[in-house]
This record gives sequence, structure tokens and C-alpha cells, in this order.
Amino acid sequence: MAKTKTVFFCRNCGNESPKWIGKCNACGEWNTYSEETIVTGKAGKQVSYNKLGTKSKPIAINDIVAGKEQRIDMQNAELNRVLGGGLVPGSLILIGGEPGIGKSTLMLQVALALKNLKVLYISGEESQQQIKMRADRIGIHNENCYILAETSTSEIFAHFETLQPEIIIVDSIQTLQSDQIEASAGSISQIRETAAEMMKLAKMTNVPVFLIGHITKDGSIAGPKVLEHIVDTVIQFEGDRHYGFRILRAVKNRFGSASELGIFEMNASGLREVNNPSEILLSQREENVSGVAISAMVEGLRPMLIETQALVSTAAYGTPQRSVTGFDLRRLNMLLAVLEKRSGFRLSAKDVFLNIAGGIRVDDPAIDLSVIAAVLSSSEDIPLDSKLAFAAEVGLSGEIRAVNRIEARISEADKLGFEKIFISKYNFRGIDVSKFHIEIVPVSSVNEVFALLFG
Ligand code: TYD
Ligand code: MG
Repeated sequence: MAKTKTVFFCRNCGNESPKWIGKCNACGEWNTYSEETIVTGKAGKQVSYNKLGTKSKPIAINDIVAGKEQRIDMQNAELNRVLGGGLVPGSLILIGGEPGIGKSTLMLQVALALKNLKVLYISGEESQQQIKMRADRIGIHNENCYILAETSTSEIFAHFETLQPEIIIVDSIQTLQSDQIEASAGSISQIRETAAEMMKLAKMTNVPVFLIGHITKDGSIAGPKVLEHIVDTVIQFEGDRHYGFRILRAVKNRFGSASELGIFEMNASGLREVNNPSEILLSQREENVSGVAISAMVEGLRPMLIETQALVSTAAYGTPQRSVTGFDLRRLNMLLAVLEKRSGFRLSAKDVFLNIAGGIRVDDPAIDLSVIAAVLSSSEDIPLDSKLAFAAEVGLSGEIRAVNRIEARISEADKLGFEKIFISKYNFRGIDVSKFHIEIVPVSSVNEVFALLFG
């Protein structure tokens, strides 16, 4: 017998409640509950999973043959890197991002580039003709790529059985609809149910499935948090729409590091892989402007040089403004307090703006020293040497602290023709200086850095 009941779900984390509540008990967000009607025990077509593969059976762990870890080469170096070295068969991957950022473009491009695998691209958002137009724009021809405009999961399973694809891409999870429950497409209960069905498909057939999911900044469309624990890998596609750059970031990965980054550039014929990020992050540099410092940062395993720009000016109003793009505001406030307290710079009456070039968001602490250098340079109005880079963390007492992977940072700066790099004296000890052309300057305090730069 079918039963109907009304429940409330948190749009942020998917928590369920029998009544509306203002603040979610699970994730603490306010005003995120919405009402949904769900029908349980509905008689209808049951999804027949057992046709999809063998039935499961318990095996002693010692008897399981692990085999060599298999990875599917996605023919795309940046995506391979973010997936942890290629795609794992049978995995379920969620690609989240704001509407218009380029998720469909990326996945279609990947589907077209995989010439040796049969790919099924399922779209609930665009017609087959629209996708064909996009494919023409990307300009790759592939006979092995199939497009299906469908939203019902039972139809999708039927097509899966006849076509037998080797990779499935679903664009997007918010459009999928299962017969099992009656909620509308895009509601939390539908998203959960259809994602669980796609998960079963992936696990039973060993065919990897990509799910595209829309998210908006205010989380008004069901965020990927609802799905995070179901899927194997969560990848975020982000970037500033005003820059051409797009960043693919692993947020969770059962099969690899969750700190890898892939960089793309959107142009007229799709997304171009950016294999040497420093090149673009440094390209638009003006010589001899104050307030600019270059940092040797590391994202995942990859070192890259990035520009930090600061603008320090006298506050126009009583309360000085502090504004950041791509950096943590609290961290900036902390660094400014260190400069004020430990070195006596009077910054508390100044507006400070900080910008990380290229629309990248950085949380590597090694960028601290270049932030300080950029702020000091702007405050003194003295430009820094354009062949100078920085890689160190700054502590609360103004001490310059060691950072990880220092040799990778130094060699990246070296490779790009930088002539000098400031690092912590604690990092300096273990380094074989003769390997590098670049001059390595060990520093121990903010005051010493100031004296070396402007003294
Ligand atoms: P799209 O992949 O539709 O975004 P999403 O699926 O994340 O909503 O990307 C749309 C944007 O990409 C749109 O503004 C046009 C732009 N674009 C290009 O600049 N070049 C291209 O070759 C393509 C296909 C799209
Ligand atoms: Mg799309």
C-alpha cells in the first residue's frame, strides 16, 4: 500500500525532520528546510538490478584477489590528476559547480576525447541537437560517444542494458527522476534516491558514472553535501566567470589525494588544459608597481608561482576596510596584527585590500610571507624586484616558519627564471643549494625581511 507523508529536508546537508525548523540540528545552517511529500511503498516497476550483474556474496578478505589497481586514462592530464591518476572503474564521481561555469562543456569534451571507450552522455537539460551543436563547437569527432536525452532512471537502465556503455555521464543529477518515489526532480529525496540508484549501477557493473550537480553560492539548489557521503569522489569546478580560468578541485577522493588541482582555460572551442599554471598566473605582470609579491605555492603535489597583490591606503572612513579575494580574511587580519605589534607598522588606520591573481583561492600557509611583502611594498610604495619570490609561513611572533615541499617550490621558481627566493631559515638547513641557480635567502623574522627588502 502506498503511503504519503510530508517531511522536511535541509537543503544544505539533507537532514530530515518531521516538522519545519529554523536552524538545522545537523549542520547549523539557518532557514534551509523545505517541505517535500514522499510516497513510500509505492507499487510500481521495480528497478531490476540483478540483471545488471552478478549477485553479491561475502568473501574472506584474504581470498579477495586485489589485482593491480586499474585506472582508466581520461585523455586529459588535468582531470587524471584530480582523479588521483585516472578514473577508477566502478566509481561514482560528482562534479559540482555553479550554473554556466562549464561542467557540461568539460564532460562532453572528455566524452569526445575518449575514442576507445563507449561513452553514454545522458542529458536532462539539453536536447540531442543542442549537444551536437556544442560538440561541433568543441570540434572533436568520435563515433563511440552516445547522447541520450532522458531523465527517468528506469529508462536509463534499460538503455544501459542495450547499449552497454563503458562510461556514463549524467547531466545533471538535479534532472533525474526515479519511479520509486514521487517527489519532483531536483528535490532532496529525488536526488538521494537517483544518486543511490546510479551508485548501485556503478558498483554492480563496474562502469564508472559521473554525476554533474549544480550548486549556487547560497546553496539554494540542493548542495553536493547531500551526496557527499554517497559518492566516491567529489570534484568542484570553480572559477571566476570574468577570468577565463577554471579550476577543478578534488574535495573528497576515496582513490587519491583530495588536494589536487586541475587548471583549464575556457576559450571559443571548449576548455584548454593549462599544464603550466605559473605561466598564466604570472603573465599579466607590470614591472615596477608597488604592492606585488610572488609566492611559490603548492597545490596538491604541484608547485606553482602566483602573484599576491596588496593595496594599502589611508582609510577614508573611521573604520578601515579589509578586503580579500582568494585569501582568508582572518588570516590577513592576523598578519596585519603581527606587522603592527611585532614590527610597529601603523596599519590599523589603513584600508588594506588583498588579491590573489587569476581568481585562484589559496589556503597554502606558505603564501604568508608574500602577503606581508606585498602589504609592506604597497605601504612603503616601493616596488619589489620582479625576479624575487617568497615561500614561508609567518607565525604570531613575527617569526618566519618552515613550509613543506620547499625544494619543489624553489625548483619551480628556479625553472621560471626567478633570481632570488626568501625562505625560512629552518627550511634552509636541509637544502642542497648547489642544485639550484636561484639565490636562496634564509630569513628568520618579519623585521629581517623588511630590512632586506627596504632597509
Ligand atoms: P556550460 O558547460 O553550459 O556550463 P554548465 O554546464 O556548468 O552550466 O558552459 C557554459 C559557458 O561556457 C557558456 O557561458 C559558454 C561557454 N563556452 C565557451 O566559452 N566555449 C565553448 O566552446 C563552449 C562549449 C562553451
Ligand atoms: Mg550544463
